Amino acid sequence: MKQKALVVDDEKLIRWSLKENLGKSGYEVVEAEKGSDAIKAFSEALPDIVLLDVNLPDMSGIDVLRSIKGIDKDVPVIIITAFGNIQTAVDAMKFGAYDFIEKPFEIEKLNIVMDKALENAFLRREVSRYKALTGDYGFEHIIGNSPKMQEMKRVIKKISQSNATTVLLEGETGTGKDLIARVIHNQSNRAHKSFVDVNCAALPENLIESELFGYERGAFTGASNGKKGLFELSNGGTIYLDEIGDMNYDLQAKLLKVIDSKTFRRLGGTTEIMTDVRIIAATNRDLQAKIKAGTFREDLYWRLKVIPLTMPPLRERGEDILLISQKFIERFDLEFKKQAKGLSPETRKLFLAYRWPGNVRELKNVIERAMILENEEYITPDYLPVEIVQAAEAKASQPKPCEELGITIPEGGVDIENIEKELLKKALMMAKGNQSKAARLLNLGRDAFRYRIQKFGLDSESQGEA
Ligand SMILES: Nc1ncnc2c1ncn2[C@@H]1O[C@H](COP(=O)(O)OP(=O)(O)O)[C@@H](O)[C@H]1O
Ligand SMILES: [Mg+2]
Repeated sequence: MKQKALVVDDEKLIRWSLKENLGKSGYEVVEAEKGSDAIKAFSEALPDIVLLDVNLPDMSGIDVLRSIKGIDKDVPVIIITAFGNIQTAVDAMKFGAYDFIEKPFEIEKLNIVMDKALENAFLRREVSRYKALTGDYGFEHIIGNSPKMQEMKRVIKKISQSNATTVLLEGETGTGKDLIARVIHNQSNRAHKSFVDVNCAALPENLIESELFGYERGAFTGASNGKKGLFELSNGGTIYLDEIGDMNYDLQAKLLKVIDSKTFRRLGGTTEIMTDVRIIAATNRDLQAKIKAGTFREDLYWRLKVIPLTMPPLRERGEDILLISQKFIERFDLEFKKQAKGLSPETRKLFLAYRWPGNVRELKNVIERAMILENEEYITPDYLPVEIVQAAEAKASQPKPCEELGITIPEGGVDIENIEKELLKKALMMAKGNQSKAARLLNLGRDAFRYRIQKFGLDSESQGEA
């Protein structure tokens, strides 16, 4: 396949000569004369390589470079610079240009630079493809600096370096259990072996069993060939048993046996097969309650809980909420080609006050949705789900406890009627005599308020409808 090159230069002669020569070297050439045309041509043609003159009539070459890199960060860009204008070229390198070449240039030299640039880009793409395939789950993927998350990361590091074969991850939905399981695997000496993800709630019981243990030929009708199970296939690696709380009671006993003896039998099999696999079990259920109800085995629970890890809910992670939001915004900026910078002050307040029952998953969804709909630089409450906005309103309108109001009872005691009267007067004063407002300040209904001000003879001090 032909490689595509975009040539950006305002000098017609240069464009013409490059087109001729690169054409001979086997390139398909797209041209642009101005910066704005270059960006447009780039996003339409998605070339494999760009030759960019930094002195353009309409905009700075650096800005063109940055826009191009924003569309495809791995594309090699070679700067063409006039003799004696090295500084701009050096600046361009800082913004991700691959190399520069001075005018007038020899076409052989340019060809060599272009070959090298393309090879380099190819390797970079291979690396990112490989990372995407294996899932590049490093510690840096776990965002959060709150004390709880710092402690969490410390324990995770320890676990991944240890030989312990069972880990129990507890925590509400969306708190990052899957993420942590993958990080533990990827940071352990098991990383080069497989990570197998099994959702115990999603598969029917008999299927989970044959998936995990495999079966011998003829083990059941339809088993015309034997099959290896996941415990066999993930030997040396990690099995992630998600929603372990939903695992069938009998299967729990079999799992316990695998953990204890590090051996198992295929369904219908008679030989014990050895396996060395780390089991990371996760649940958002209260396993203690399930033990009491007789649906979860206590012995398995304690066996799994050798290393327990409880993910804190997002609402207990303080400013991590803002930090994680910021990272998601940056990620979606790239994905949706947007330029959002962060949360508006109002949104920050709402986010910190909200309970986040769906935790990080919910936060991610909220930001994704807001960024699709919002065109402001900062995410305003306009496109937030109503429950987030309403939760803050409800919280604000809730009566505050005594300490917060600075109310104390003196040694000699107080007359509660008198205090009630004082509160009514104060509320009327604050509401400038408006009864409806005063009633709202005291969280009283219209009749209750009326009754009270009449009782204390305060109705003359106010006006209007309550
Ligand atoms: N601390 C974190 N930093 C960054 N992303 C996170 C964090 N915790 C969770 N996520 C992301 O939130 C989403 C839900 O997390 P997940 O691990 O699936 O939760 P769980 O398994 O507990 O339901 C995923 O997209 C995950 O990558
Ligand atoms: Mg999960």
